[in-house]
Amino acid sequence: MFEPIIDIVNIQKSFKKGDRQELLVLDNINLKIYEGEIVAILGKSGSGKSTLLRIMAGLIAPSRGKLTYRKQPVAGPAHGISMVFQTFALLPWLTVLQNVELGLEALGVDREERRERALKAIDMIGLDGFESALPKELSGGMRQRVGFARALVVNPDVLLMDEPFSALDVLTADNLKSDLIDLWQSKQTGINSIVFVTHSIEEAVTIADRVIIFNSNPGSIRADLKITLPFPRSDLDPRFRNQVDRVYTLMTTLPQDERMPEDKKRYEVIDLGYRLPDASVSEAIGLLELLNSPEHQGKMDLPDVAETLMLDIDDLFPLTELLEILRFADVSKGDITITNEGRVFADADMLQRKKIFSVHLKKYVPLARYIYDQLIRHPRQRALEENYLSLLEDYLSESEAERVLRTVIEWGRYAELFSYDYNSGVLSLESPH
Ligand SMILES: Nc1ncnc2c1ncn2[C@@H]1O[C@H](COP(=O)(O)OP(=O)(O)O)[C@@H](O)[C@H]1O
Ligand SMILES: [Mg+2]
Repeated sequence: MFEPIIDIVNIQKSFKKGDRQELLVLDNINLKIYEGEIVAILGKSGSGKSTLLRIMAGLIAPSRGKLTYRKQPVAGPAHGISMVFQTFALLPWLTVLQNVELGLEALGVDREERRERALKAIDMIGLDGFESALPKELSGGMRQRVGFARALVVNPDVLLMDEPFSALDVLTADNLKSDLIDLWQSKQTGINSIVFVTHSIEEAVTIADRVIIFNSNPGSIRADLKITLPFPRSDLDPRFRNQVDRVYTLMTTLPQDERMPEDKKRYEVIDLGYRLPDASVSEAIGLLELLNSPEHQGKMDLPDVAETLMLDIDDLFPLTELLEILRFADVSKGDITITNEGRVFADADMLQRKKIFSVHLKKYVPLARYIYDQLIRHPRQRALEENYLSLLEDYLSESEAERVLRTVIEWGRYAELFSYDYNSGVLSLESPH
């Protein structure tokens, strides 16, 4: 058996928040990366993918567990491992060439060799002719290419990439992706493995030899799939569609539901501090209407939904999760199916919809119910948002607490359950009792 290049054994990571509380972000991660592989990491937003990549790069330390790179324990940024971020911070006053050389200065490479290697990396990544341009003269796609050149110039053994294409428009991203695959296959770079995080299932299945699927809360590995399709892969190939469906299925089936008959499926019961999905009510209703349309008859394949609405999983899954939480739809095995209650909602007029939504919100979202109950009991039926923020911070990081509160406020306002004043941060009952 080959030795893994990177070996992650039982890694756990928690972040401190507040005085004593800890937020467990990664739990029990075991992962080996082998020579010659491209590995994609997929998971819902907030599941700890970036954290794992930063641990692999030696940028942050795990709380527990062991990480070795070529049999050596990793403590601090490892030589041989290079990282490409979602957006690259280029120094605006330096030229493309100087920005790329920067990575080598730190390694103590002499001037002449620096120049030579930087020119080669710039050429490799398709920026020939732009050596003396300043970042502001470049398009977003070209700036990202400079980021790649800067990661490649150090001749990394392992390349880590955190959503490297997600800030780019589709055409630019496709273009850069195919250039990278060509580079990888031509073996010009000397890179031995690539690990990248993505929120596009198609992207993962197009590029990767293996796809790692993450669970959320805390992040852990749900599945490790080999993709054995030959390159170049076409998204029209039925085998490609099959793999995409398989990934959707894994990402939408809770492990404990896997062996259960369809009608016994349990809804996840959420608690007060649940990380509510970042879903806008109007978009979720749009999805429900699409499902309910005569064309779809209440059931759709999730890859179809993503394609029809042109959403990637970071945009789609929050919407499907909101519909599930409110029991308007069921998501299982890669399909979404409208429920009877969802049908009643979709067929109702606007006022009835708000009523139904409000009933379901109070019934199934403990945070909304809690806020509503407190407002009712308060003599002036008001409350400060700070109260709820500090409550949520017992469960979530500060920024997530804020996001979750903003989300529940948006849902509550749609349902006319409560209203909110942005200037004062005061929540109050919409229709005083
Ligand atoms: N430095 C940090 N301090 C506190 N919490 C953090 C920190 N970095 C990430 N988190 C939290 O860890 C969780 C996972 O974050 P992240 O790894 O960025 O997820 P992903 O990349 O999958 O979206 C989130 O809840 C995030 O708020
Ligand atoms: Mg991330």
